[in-house]
Amino acid sequence: MRVLITGGNGYIGSHTCIELLAAGHAVTIVDNLSNSSPAVVERIARIAGRQPEFHQLDVRDAAGLERLFARQAFDALIHFAGVKAVAESVADPLKYYSNNVCGSALLFDAALRHGVTRLVFSSSATVYGEAARSPIGEDAPLAPANPYGRSKRMVEELLADLCRANPGLRAVALRYFNPVGAHPSGRVGEAPGGIPDNLMPYLCQVAVGRLPELTVFGNDYPTPDGTAIRDYIHVVDLAQGHLKAFDYLEREGGMHFINLGTGRGTSVLELLAAFERVNGVRIPHRMGARRPGDTTETYADAARAAQQLGWSTRLSLEDMCRDAWCWQKLNPAGYA
Ligand code: NAD
Ligand code: UD1
Repeated sequence: MRVLITGGNGYIGSHTCIELLAAGHAVTIVDNLSNSSPAVVERIARIAGRQPEFHQLDVRDAAGLERLFARQAFDALIHFAGVKAVAESVADPLKYYSNNVCGSALLFDAALRHGVTRLVFSSSATVYGEAARSPIGEDAPLAPANPYGRSKRMVEELLADLCRANPGLRAVALRYFNPVGAHPSGRVGEAPGGIPDNLMPYLCQVAVGRLPELTVFGNDYPTPDGTAIRDYIHVVDLAQGHLKAFDYLEREGGMHFINLGTGRGTSVLELLAAFERVNGVRIPHRMGARRPGDTTETYADAARAAQQLGWSTRLSLEDMCRDAWCWQKLNPAGYA
């Protein structure tokens, strides 16, 4: 298959490109490089032993998309491109509706007109919102608590409407839990600009000496050690879930919503301890206040992915910590 990957230079997209190339697919990347480096393309090629095609393009550039689709036929589309910082989405909602919602609408329009029938969309567990009870199944009510989450829900609804209107179209929205880790080669990984918002990249930057200490956001949660619980998933497992979603769309029509998580919860202090143990490093840290909007406990019901995709995670918390640290040590300043 020739697969179009939007946002393929980003964290999850780059790992998925590697898995697709390794499985023998041809890959075309579209990315506007707003949150990634052009260097990623060569890293992907070195690991996979095959070259992806790359186009620097914004998914909101309708004329650019038209030229791309007119030149080349695609069997499938994986749509990663978008913006993803919760706090920024509250301060600048239009950036989120423009990139995530308008961008998706323009992209799907071009894809449909050019005969693409299989779509995979990067959604997020954030669509469930703060009140959802874990383990969270796909039929839980959706109540996203911020513009980022609402933009993801809107695109899910847009895709479902497109599937209803176009019986030949098949789509999966994959709801990711907390992707962490890096490719075991240490050559691609997560490279956030500025100070990271998320726990694992923050922890890595403390370990490598770029940040002085980690603040644990709240140790008064009603959990065994008082810190909040999440479902961390290795990015390579997550990437492989996308290939399984393709296989599924070979067999099944219509629109599907599927969680990608391990189904297991890990607390902040458990992750910290695993990172120190596996990597033999000390992470200076202190207890701080809860972060507004954080949930106590969020982890997936991963049964639907197992039953429908035949997919479940293989890599452990230790693998996540080891690979995240390997990437950070080899690339202390990311791709810079
Ligand atoms: P990322 O920022 O590393 O990758 C996104 C890529 O899209 C970047 O390379 C960026 O340059 C590109 N991009 C952004 N806007 C674009 C546009 N308008 N046109 C073209 N390219 C554009 O993020 P990621 O962590 O790899 O996330 C990928 C997707 O998965 C996003 O849609 C995100 O919302 C979703 N997601 C991520 C997480 C997570 O924790 N990383 C969790 C749930 C869902
Ligand atoms: C965040 C996003 C969520 C997104 C998810 C993707 C917010 C409010 N939510 O969720 O929309 O889908 O990332 O992975 O931004 N922590 C610390 N210290 C830190 C950083 C984090 O203690 O410096 C804690 C947090 O309070 C949380 C846990 O670590 O309990 C994980 O945090 P994070 O990696 O930001 O993920 P989420 O909160 O799940």
